[in-house]
Amino acid sequence: PQILRILSHAHHQKHLATPWLRPQQVGGKKSLQLSKLKMPSQSLFNKSIALLFSKRSTRTRVAAETSAVLLGGRALFLGREDIQLGVNESPRDTARVIGGMCEGIFARVGDHSEIEELARYSPVPVLNALSSLWHPTQTLADLLTLHEHAHLFDPSIPAPTEDSRTKGVPSLPMLKPLTITYVGDSANVLHDMLVTLPRLGHKLRVATPPQYGCPEPVWARVKELGCDVEGAQLESGLPGIPNGGIWWGADPKEAVKGADVVVTDTWISMGQEAEKEERLKAFEGYQVTEALCREGGANPDWKFMHCLPRKPNEVDDEVFYGPRSLVFPEADNRKWTIMAAFDLLFGKWDITGEREAA
Ligand code: CP
Ligand code: NVA
Repeated sequence: PQILRILSHAHHQKHLATPWLRPQQVGGKKSLQLSKLKMPSQSLFNKSIALLFSKRSTRTRVAAETSAVLLGGRALFLGREDIQLGVNESPRDTARVIGGMCEGIFARVGDHSEIEELARYSPVPVLNALSSLWHPTQTLADLLTLHEHAHLFDPSIPAPTEDSRTKGVPSLPMLKPLTITYVGDSANVLHDMLVTLPRLGHKLRVATPPQYGCPEPVWARVKELGCDVEGAQLESGLPGIPNGGIWWGADPKEAVKGADVVVTDTWISMGQEAEKEERLKAFEGYQVTEALCREGGANPDWKFMHCLPRKPNEVDDEVFYGPRSLVFPEADNRKWTIMAAFDLLFGKWDITGEREAA
């Protein structure tokens, strides 16, 4: 329910803001009664959000900075070279000091323990902007994109029209249960899919090379949340749970069977650059292509998603730039979902359940 609430809020804010940010996208200024347009929430008015990023970012950073502006506040980008953290100062002291001056911390870190430490000592909420284990705001954007494209999976849902966009704020379309396949590395983006999608009624099918299986703490969380495993072929050796919503194997062709959506991510995450050669070898045969999905028996209308940035190793150009690809609406939705999280968590202190939020 928390996740759907954030998604509905993101969808609502997006429809409020788009007409005055981009009038050309909703039929031009003449078709709008500008005086009647409602502003999105101004819950960050006069407030500052620290973006504590120790790794590169395009989407997450731009989404965060532009969201803070829309919510009436500002974001301070604090990169690795900018502040004392990691060189002259501990995460504990940094969290206390920044949390004394800013109303929220959005942090992109290396090892996941770093964000746990920031959260432990910060007097204000800390939201994960990506860690070694998790990337929660990516899953929010992916889900919003799927909900907005619900008509592609369910003919009873009408496609949004220009007209429907100008007539008030439509409610978030509901999504029928989907089969979603992830082919690639068991990394942060997949891990949030594992703990989220089965709880929303979707089946998840995963193929990773056996030596790049699910890390123990992630699997513990999957089990804790009851995100079951069906006939679990957990090559990582982790124990599976019978009769559930996750299938896990090593064969990408088997994994795409019946897929409505196929997802992948880079094979070499930030910080793993030294492993490039061995990883490229281990992931041979895992590239997402039309042939793989046809031969594996994906739904003929399958759609493609990727968090970006993308390398051609993991998906070829035909799929990435082709009509199945939802990657750019997905990237756009990083903004609206991060904005919803900022509004509810930093602006209104209105998200409970630390783990779900962080
Ligand atoms: N998807 C994503 O997190 O992109 P950035 O690394 O560019 O923020
Ligand atoms: N798994 C990738 C995601 C980038 C958004 C990484 O951690 O680099």
